[in-house]
Amino acid sequence: MPRLHFKGKVFVENHHLAVPFHELLPVREKGLSEKANLHDNLIVHGDNLAALKSLLPTYHGKVKCVYIDPPYNTGNEGWAYNDNVNSPLMRDWLGRVVDRDDLTRHDKWCCMMMPRLKLLRELLREDGAIFVSIDGNEVHHLRCLMDEVFGEENLVATVVWQKIFAPKSSAKYFSENHDFVVVYAKRKELFRRNLLPRTAAADARYANPDDDHRGSWISDNLTARNPYSKGTYSITCPGGRVISGPPPGRYWLFSEEKFWKLDRDNRIWWGAKGNNIPRLKRFLSEVKQGLVPQTLWLHTDVGNTQEAKKELVSTLQFERSEDVFNTVKPSRLVRRILQIASDPDSIILDSFAGSGTTAHAVLAQNREDGGNRRFILVECEDYADNITAERVRRVIKGVPSAKDDALKAGLGGTFSYFELGRPMQQESLLDGSHLPSWEKLAGYIFFTATGQEFDPAETNPDTGFVGRTSSHDVFLFYQPDVDELKSLALSLAEARALPEGGSRRRLVFAPTKYLDREFLHQYRIDFQQLPFQIYEAIDRLER
Ligand SMILES: C[S@@+](CC[C@H](N)C(=O)[O-])C[C@H]1O[C@@H](n2cnc3c(N)ncnc32)[C@H](O)[C@@H]1O
Repeated sequence: MPRLHFKGKVFVENHHLAVPFHELLPVREKGLSEKANLHDNLIVHGDNLAALKSLLPTYHGKVKCVYIDPPYNTGNEGWAYNDNVNSPLMRDWLGRVVDRDDLTRHDKWCCMMMPRLKLLRELLREDGAIFVSIDGNEVHHLRCLMDEVFGEENLVATVVWQKIFAPKSSAKYFSENHDFVVVYAKRKELFRRNLLPRTAAADARYANPDDDHRGSWISDNLTARNPYSKGTYSITCPGGRVISGPPPGRYWLFSEEKFWKLDRDNRIWWGAKGNNIPRLKRFLSEVKQGLVPQTLWLHTDVGNTQEAKKELVSTLQFERSEDVFNTVKPSRLVRRILQIASDPDSIILDSFAGSGTTAHAVLAQNREDGGNRRFILVECEDYADNITAERVRRVIKGVPSAKDDALKAGLGGTFSYFELGRPMQQESLLDGSHLPSWEKLAGYIFFTATGQEFDPAETNPDTGFVGRTSSHDVFLFYQPDVDELKSLALSLAEARALPEGGSRRRLVFAPTKYLDREFLHQYRIDFQQLPFQIYEAIDRLER
C-alpha cells in the first residue's frame, strides 16, 4: 500500500502512546445531571488528544460511531498545533499558528490528525465506524492517513455532501458546493449499516398505472451485462412486436421459462400499448423497509450550511448571524450518520465538537425513535461552556423560537461536564506533590495494566480490590498521603488477608513489600511496585 510521508511523521506515529492520562474533573454546575459521572452524556473541555486518552479507561472499544469535523486546514482558520511532541526542534516547528503562508501546513495538519485518529480507533467498537467531514484541502491526505490507521480494506465510502445549493458567482475558479464525509469501519466485515427510513419523495416514485391489486410499483431494467447462457431468447410482445433478443452486449435477467411465469403473474410491464421492451414491476409493498444509503447526500435530505447557521442562531439567540461560527453543520447531516451507523443504545463520539451539533442530533434522533444513544463531545476552546454546552442545555430544556414542537418543548436528557485536570504521569504520579485519590489511581493502574475497562462499582478500597480479568484479581495498596505511603507495604498479614480469587492470580500494586519470592509464589501473588511498574503489567507477566 502506498504510504504518505510528511514532515514530523516519525515523531507523531507513536505519540498517542506517550500522551499521559489526565484527570477528568467534573464541573457539576455546568452540566445537567444530579451527579456528574463518566457514564452520562459527556462534554469535555480540553484538547482532544489528552481527552481521548483519558476517556480510554472507560470507553476503550465501546464507541459505536465517531463523527468528527476537524479544522479543514484552509489556511484561514488560525489553528495552532500544540501537541507536546518530545523534541525541541519539532516543538519549535509545530508550535506556530498554521496559516496560508505556512508552506508546511499540510504536514502540521497530518501531525495533528494522526495520533488522534489512532486514539479514536482504540475507542471504537469492533463493529463501529468513523465518519470524518472534510473538504478538498485535505481529503487526499486524510484518505492516506485513514488507510494507514484503519486499513485500506476498511474504507466504506467517500460521501459527497451538497453543502450549498446556490453557486457563488464570486468564486475565482469553481464554486465549491460540496464537502466530503469519509467513512471507515473499524472492521468492515463486522460493520452493518442500517437502511435509511423511507421518504415520501422515494415512495412518490411508485405509481399504479395498470391498477394492479398489489398496489403501486416502479419498473426495473430486465437486462444485465453479465453473460447468461439462457438470457438471449427472442420475445413477442402482447402488442405483436417481436424483439429478437436483449440489446447488444446484454442478457435477459431470467430464463425464458421464468420470464413467462413472471408475465403470467402480471409482473412484466410492456408499456401502455403493450409493445415496449419489457421491464420488471417492483412493488412498494415488497421492497425492503428502508433505503440503501447512497454516496451523494443532497441538501434537501440532510440540510446545508445555511440551515446549520439558522439552527444555531435560533437556538442560541445570537443577535447577528456573523457571530455564529462558519463551520457549523446541520443536525440533519449528523442524524443521517446516526441513522446509518448507530443503534438505539449506541455511544456516539465527536472530539471536534464546535457548537455541539452532534449532541443535538443524538438527542433529536433519540426523541424520534425512542433510542437511548449517548454522546461524548470534546471541545478545546473556551466556548465549550457558553456555546457547546449552552446549546445542549437549551436543546434539552427547550428552545422557545424553534419551529419543531419537540425542540420547542425541549428534547429532554442529561449531561455531565468535565474539565481536563492534571496529567497522571508515571514520574510525577507519586512524587508527593499531586497525589491522586485511591479511586483515580485504581482506574489508572487497572486500565494501563490490563487494557480493560475499570468499573468503580466493583472496587473495594478496604481490601484494595480494584478489578478482575480472566487471569488476575488486581489490588492496590495506596493512600493519598505521603506519610502513610512511606509505611504502606504488602506484608504477610495483608497477603494472607487477600480475598480468594479461585484459580486467578493476584496482582498487587503497593509502594513496597515485606515478602520473599517463595511466599509470593505460594500465594499466587504477582507484585508490582508503585509507581514504576504500572504499564501493561499483565502483558509482561503473561509473556
Ligand atoms: C469545524 S469545527 C466543528 C464544527 C461542528 N461540527 C459544529 O457543527 O458546530 C472544529 C472544532 O474543533 C475544535 N478543535 C480543533 N482542534 C481541537 C483539539 N485539538 N481538541 C479539541 N477541539 C478541537 C475547534 O475549536 C472547533 O470548534
